[in-house]
Amino acid sequence: MFPISKAKAQVRAGFAQMLPSIAKHKIPKPAPTQSRAIPRSAAKGQNAVTPQFQFKSLRWRLLGSYLMVMVAIRVISNGVVYEFFAHSLYQQLNNRLLNLAQAAAHSLVAIKQDKDAVDQPAYRPLDGDGDLDIPWQNLSKPDQGVEWFGADKQRLAISGTLSPTFPLQEGFQTGEQGQIRTLTIPAYSYSQGQRQLEGYVRASESTESVEAVLTQLRWGSGVAGVLALGLIGVGGMWLTRQSMKPIEQSFQQLKQFTADASHELRSPLTAIKASVEVMQTHPERIHPADVEKLNAIASATSQMSRLVEDLLLLARTDATTAAPTREWTVIPLDELLEDVEERLEPNAEAQATTLKLELQKDIFVKGDASQLFRVFCNLLENALQYTPSGGTVTLSMSTDETWVVVSVEDTGIGIAPEHLPFIFDRLWRADKARTQRQEGSGLGLAIAQAIAQRHGGNITVRSELGVGSCFQVSLPIFS
Ligand SMILES: Nc1ncnc2c1ncn2[C@@H]1O[C@H](COP(=O)(O)OP(=O)(O)OP(=O)(O)O)[C@@H](O)[C@H]1O
Ligand SMILES: [Mg+2]
Repeated sequence: MFPISKAKAQVRAGFAQMLPSIAKHKIPKPAPTQSRAIPRSAAKGQNAVTPQFQFKSLRWRLLGSYLMVMVAIRVISNGVVYEFFAHSLYQQLNNRLLNLAQAAAHSLVAIKQDKDAVDQPAYRPLDGDGDLDIPWQNLSKPDQGVEWFGADKQRLAISGTLSPTFPLQEGFQTGEQGQIRTLTIPAYSYSQGQRQLEGYVRASESTESVEAVLTQLRWGSGVAGVLALGLIGVGGMWLTRQSMKPIEQSFQQLKQFTADASHELRSPLTAIKASVEVMQTHPERIHPADVEKLNAIASATSQMSRLVEDLLLLARTDATTAAPTREWTVIPLDELLEDVEERLEPNAEAQATTLKLELQKDIFVKGDASQLFRVFCNLLENALQYTPSGGTVTLSMSTDETWVVVSVEDTGIGIAPEHLPFIFDRLWRADKARTQRQEGSGLGLAIAQAIAQRHGGNITVRSELGVGSCFQVSLPIFS
């Protein structure tokens, strides 16, 4: 592991000292890039998952859910209202048909004797049989029709404009493509308490007027629905913005707290570290029984300093929305990666891991060299740390016209598919990683991702447990 104090000193001293080959490099005109297939994920780099972006997408998702719920409620309530109206309009139509059929039934006996009786005004005595004692002619409307049938279902007479063609059937029927509704009732005569079937009466009415009202209702609720949707959309946007405000505020406070706490922790940690280092320079003053404890304190302090520095870096990355592009330089990527490899070559040798480099010349990216150095260092460190001895780690590059993809591939322990969604989360470590390496904090990938996204890029991963992992950093090429 690279000593913390040395690393900090190098960062302070600037990238020029840390990577002399890059600092001194006179940038030549970039050569035409070699065209190779770039993974689809590279294009995602443009959608940097910054907290601002996450809040925005959360707001849109909330609005989407709100709209979906409101639309569902409106559709259901409109449907219920429509069904209620349709039912009550058809109920009224049924009542009209029943009254007409019952009134017309009184003429059946007369019509059976003389078919012309249909045109005569029917005489209706008040017979107290429970139906309306009004002549059927007075009830009939222009869009209605009445037919009289004998007991053998042969039509005897017809009145009105409607004459349905469908077969006679007792009860309500809708036919002619739903345009005519009919009611057929049997008509009886009573003599000496005996009931005798005289025939049938069928009353019909066009459903046109009912359908016209229902069509108007459909249009009305459609137009009102669109209007309401617009208003719900505007209202929903305002509501989601209002409801997100406290969450965004808490997030800002949390970020500020992390930044402040990390900053405040730096000084006491530096003091502890300096004191321990001073003590370690005089081993003769240390009681032999305390040497181990002192080493443990020194190691824990280093680990904590690193964690604090990492947290501070992340908090600062979160705090600034726009990347400070004015301070960025044009960096030859192959040289940057060579320096990363140089830095970690001793680690690879120590654990007998083969480190392969497959680089392309004259590929340039614009950015903060020390930050990009950190990205590739973190990835290569991970690859080495999570690859058992004898494995291979390959650092390679591929390009198309606009993107360069740097792949860090290892033949290590791999990552379980259920863990993949979490590996870029802050302070997340797989249990297996803990057993492999105690001292990690789980911030390395979060930092790498934050830096890559600040550079307009992205990091993606594919991995198979027990086979290996491949992390791909896509960055826009500077041309
Ligand atoms: N190349 C890899 N192979 C297998 N697992 C990996 C690899 N890289 C990352 N991981 C998994 O992702 C987790 C997060 O990685 P990250 O670099 O963020 O943290 P860390 O290496 O545990 O600690 P730190 O980098 O802060 O010292 C690791 O703990 C490990 O479980
Ligand atoms: Mg790591």
